[in-house]
Amino acid sequence: MKAIAQAYSNIALIKYWGKRESRLNLPAVGSISLTLAGMKTVSQVHFREDLDHDHLLLNGKEALPPETARVSKFLNIVREASRLQLFAEIKSHNNFPTGAGLASSASAFASLALAASQAAGLKLSPAQLSILARRGSGSAARSLFGGFVEMKIGKKKDGSDCYAVQLQDENYWDIHLLIAITSESKKDVGSTSGMDHTARTSPYYREWVTTSPADLKEMRQAIGNKNFHKLGELAEFSCLKMHAVAMSAYPGLLYWNAASIECIHTIRELRRQGCEVYFTIDAGPQVKAICLPAGLEAVKSALENTRGVLRVISSGLGGNAALLERID
Ligand code: PMV
Repeated sequence: MKAIAQAYSNIALIKYWGKRESRLNLPAVGSISLTLAGMKTVSQVHFREDLDHDHLLLNGKEALPPETARVSKFLNIVREASRLQLFAEIKSHNNFPTGAGLASSASAFASLALAASQAAGLKLSPAQLSILARRGSGSAARSLFGGFVEMKIGKKKDGSDCYAVQLQDENYWDIHLLIAITSESKKDVGSTSGMDHTARTSPYYREWVTTSPADLKEMRQAIGNKNFHKLGELAEFSCLKMHAVAMSAYPGLLYWNAASIECIHTIRELRRQGCEVYFTIDAGPQVKAICLPAGLEAVKSALENTRGVLRVISSGLGGNAALLERID
């Protein structure tokens, strides 16, 4: 009745922004990501007879009521599928800041999906696990897999064809991410409400959705051909397009701070000097630089010396989510 699982975070190269259905959390666009070895969540789920509600500890601290409510709602899906009637004690630990655009929900719900389903005795296939993780957070569906991962948009109303698949494993290509932390505080507008607000009010939202399949196709090709230049250009394009559509909402959403923009300039300046490095940014102010091993040291020191950067996390590509322990 108890299981511990780990999952790595991921960063989208082709971004997901917008839902076609909110109850099942079905995305309006597909996405492609890299799984990050440097940022992981370890979650323990213990279904117990002596509890009268779910109890969540995040990084050793009692979680806030909305956080516990979100996890309880997620566990209800597992309870329903397994016919288990017990509440759980959940302990989740991240080795990176939570809720500030570092996709903590991705590794959190991927590790929870694996730990909770195992603790409840459910035997799920990788696709079914990805579908379950998707109910917690869209990006979590991708964190079940290592390396290069694509989230399929799917066509079915019940979401049964809307899950992530691995394009290439973590040993396929030695790509590095350097994450410039520019703020440790929680973001104001979470991704779900930001997406919803964008879909309702941005005049460009429809274009964002209709142009997405072409970006996905090109990114698949860039990965297949190991064309780093193309991969980087497409990643910047998708990132800026996503932020542009969010900025064009009413009122506009702006996830960056001054240091985020400083980092973009640092990265583009490095590129002018001949270092192959590209940026991407999620729904928060942290900037992720994508580079090859040869550029690692130069990019790290340039970001560390950029105004407003608090620290830089370095990461290679991570593997599949994994079950660490199971006790009946
Ligand atoms: O699924 P969520 O709620 O973690 O939203 C993810 C949104 C972005 O991180 C901005 C883009 C992405 O594809 O990860």
